[in-house]
Amino acid sequence: MDYSWFEGITNASSVQTCTPTGSIMSQSSYKMWGGRFSEKPHEALQSLNNSLPYDSRLYADDLDASKAYAEALHRAGHLNEAEADKLVKNLELLRFDWIEGSVKFLPGDEDVHTVNERLLVGITGELGQRLHTGRSRNDQVVTDMKLWLRKAIRETLGRLSRVIEAATRQAELHLGVLMPGYTHLQRAQTVQFSHWLLSHAFALREDAQRLVQLRDRSNVLPLGSGALAGNPLGIDRLWLAERLGFSGVTANSMHAVGDRDFVVDFIYCCSMVSLHLSRLAEDLIIYSTKEFDFIRLADGFSSGSSLMPQKRNPDSLELIRGMSGVITSNLTGIMMTIKGTPSTYNKDLQFDKEYCFHSFDKLSQVLDVTDGVLQTMHVKQESMEAALSTDMLATDWAYYLVKKGIPFRQAHHIIGRVVTEAENRGVDITDLPLGELQAFSPVFGSDIVQVADYSNNVQQYNAIGGTASSSVVEQLRLLNKFVKELRKQS
Ligand code: ARG
Repeated sequence: MDYSWFEGITNASSVQTCTPTGSIMSQSSYKMWGGRFSEKPHEALQSLNNSLPYDSRLYADDLDASKAYAEALHRAGHLNEAEADKLVKNLELLRFDWIEGSVKFLPGDEDVHTVNERLLVGITGELGQRLHTGRSRNDQVVTDMKLWLRKAIRETLGRLSRVIEAATRQAELHLGVLMPGYTHLQRAQTVQFSHWLLSHAFALREDAQRLVQLRDRSNVLPLGSGALAGNPLGIDRLWLAERLGFSGVTANSMHAVGDRDFVVDFIYCCSMVSLHLSRLAEDLIIYSTKEFDFIRLADGFSSGSSLMPQKRNPDSLELIRGMSGVITSNLTGIMMTIKGTPSTYNKDLQFDKEYCFHSFDKLSQVLDVTDGVLQTMHVKQESMEAALSTDMLATDWAYYLVKKGIPFRQAHHIIGRVVTEAENRGVDITDLPLGELQAFSPVFGSDIVQVADYSNNVQQYNAIGGTASSSVVEQLRLLNKFVKELRKQS
């Protein structure tokens, strides 16, 4: 995983300058707990337990939730106004220390919550020790995660909208360009290149819709659930929810502290996006081969071979395809982590962040590369149209007979025989003279010539969702509208 952003604030040899207060604080460690222990945690456990390498990216969410909680404590009468103000101001100041990279970790720091509390207590002394009143890291961490997730969803929606837009631009630019459409990777029917490309854009539109649904569904506040039993100190959770931009509060504290379904859902959403990108990448890999030669990747998104000078490899697309395995393994990972944990919070849940942040980071990378690939690829109209072959007209010929009153099953059979005859003779179906065609069915007329025109055929597929231009233009309209709406939200 990439922790490079994090370097400089880890493994600090110098200790944080702060005023030690009472026995919970020394120059080398700060403990949120420990009153009942006579020995320090073993070094091996300390190292396993340390989640800072990944959860420190929650620092801002942790500060935001703590500021709101300080205000809630004041509203409930546990802090006076000046005290709450002092906590809020100092929490805000800590944000700058994080941004500057001047926060140093101590060997005893367990997680981002410990660090923020230690720093606050270091500045405000006993007052800082009051912030955790009625709060547990159990409701704190799940609140932080939900605050983080909101931003992650917004960013992912932004990236998705850019990829969809890149696809619609290429589709608009190449309206009317024909290509073979495939099923089972066998030539099937003629389609518009734009129709094919937009098929991928629509999958991504559904992914975006899934993320929006998740954002709305998970936007309920867990803070105020305490360790598991709730909050006995008159904390106004509805006020807290509004203050932090949640649309409601969780209804059961035991459920709230043990719930990571929203994290699983997010990783599922990331997995689905990555699967869709992988399928698009696979199509593009095939289309960029010399055998197909439908598209050419820009130099910036291709790689060479260290041995074969002529090679032009689609590494960008292979990395996109390969990454779907990585992201989907995170989905399996978090499900396995949750499975079998008893009710409420268990430390296993700490690993949710590794899976979640990793999925988000990797998906962001592949979305950006996909965006670049789509924007810069060269669409080779001539090669696509040269790849069309008359066998792909067979279905349209069957429809021709249907329009002349032949039942479809019979029409299918008749054209099947026409195709075999042409194959046996080593010619195209369009090479068979009308007289011979009429031996297969007397309804063949001279107007069959029109059905030999690929672009004419494509325009017949004008039911909603088909490959006719009227339908493709409508698809573009829908996607452009969607991208605009998404832009407003992201
Ligand atoms: N770092 C922990 C996590 O991410 C915070 C919650 C710890 N709670 C506890 N009771 N130990 O899950």
